[in-house]
Amino acid sequence: MPAVSALPSDRPRVLSGVQPTGSLHLGNWLGAIRNWVDLQTSHDTYFCVVDLHAITVPHDPGRLAEDTLSTAALYLACGIDPERSTVFVQSHVSAHSELCWLLNCVTPLNWLERMIQFKEKALRQGADVSAGLLDYPVLMAADILLYDADRVPVGEDQKQHLELARDIAQQRINARFGSKDAEGELIPILKVPEPLILREGARVMSLSDGRSKMSKSDPNEGSRINLLDPPELISRKIKRAKTDPQMGLEFGNAERPEADNLLGLYALLAGRSREAVAAECAAMGWGAFKPLLAEAAVAALSPLQERYRDLRSDPLYLQSVLRQGRDRASEVAAATLARVRQSLGFLAIP
Ligand code: TYM
Repeated sequence: MPAVSALPSDRPRVLSGVQPTGSLHLGNWLGAIRNWVDLQTSHDTYFCVVDLHAITVPHDPGRLAEDTLSTAALYLACGIDPERSTVFVQSHVSAHSELCWLLNCVTPLNWLERMIQFKEKALRQGADVSAGLLDYPVLMAADILLYDADRVPVGEDQKQHLELARDIAQQRINARFGSKDAEGELIPILKVPEPLILREGARVMSLSDGRSKMSKSDPNEGSRINLLDPPELISRKIKRAKTDPQMGLEFGNAERPEADNLLGLYALLAGRSREAVAAECAAMGWGAFKPLLAEAAVAALSPLQERYRDLRSDPLYLQSVLRQGRDRASEVAAATLARVRQSLGFLAIP
């Protein structure tokens, strides 16, 4: 395994993360991680495994550490290069929790109650909803704002959380606590980040219902393809995926969400343009299409799974990556936190 080296840092900065809840799926890869890989050449990139977010719903303490390691290994297996990116675990940098508290105290409660993901998850959990689940987007804002991130590559479902992070930075911190320069211009305390949501892959839908998104929390395993699913299982899930009675695959027909989703997956997994796959599959029946899609999925995931197995066979290397990531991330985070503490008027003693 290569040694981990120092990073240049004069480029625009990117931060993103995935929760270590169970296995990552095609939506996480195509909507988020795949896009992180290209950004490494042009940006100063920070990728964290957001384990504090994973405990906002009931979790199994016997699995958290293993799922955290497995998620970090998947980042690397997908092409995140620790020589170019800072890869770390959110709970290893305590500034995330501390900034979250400071932001909590300036964030209106009704901003959080409006969040669609909160409403959906709270509905599923009934009476057992934790305060942490409501606070989830404030912790996410802390993750982003600590690193002065310019851009945040995520899937479509995170857009509302990103807007919240922008509003907290702009309206609740900079506008209230920022100072003015000699010309009366506001000197911001926190950088206001931009979302980076690519059109293709930003919303991968469930295999069992083309109108709902592929999700880790769907109790039906057959609704998603996990990145570590073996080839036979991938084929079986695709074989059982929901279809419709029409011949021919097509994009953009609102009556045929499954055709749109599976054709889109085929284009992304085979690395071909949407026009090319639409032409190839325009007259194809589902019976001919599904094996093609399964083949493309297996071919796309096999090399990633092989790299994953290699990485898991060398736990010391993975630990060294996460240790170095923690140290680098802590330095950046501490500087931002100190700035916010000072602006909010906390006593500092030398
Ligand atoms: P998580 O773990 O739910 O999702 C991780 C990433 O995967 C994307 N994603 C999808 N993209 C396309 N289609 C889907 N079906 C699909 N499902 C998930 C998500 O949009 C996300 O980009 N709250 C974040 C984690 C987080 C974070 C952050 C992200 C915590 N702090 C700071 C960016 C910056 C989340 O959704 O995790």
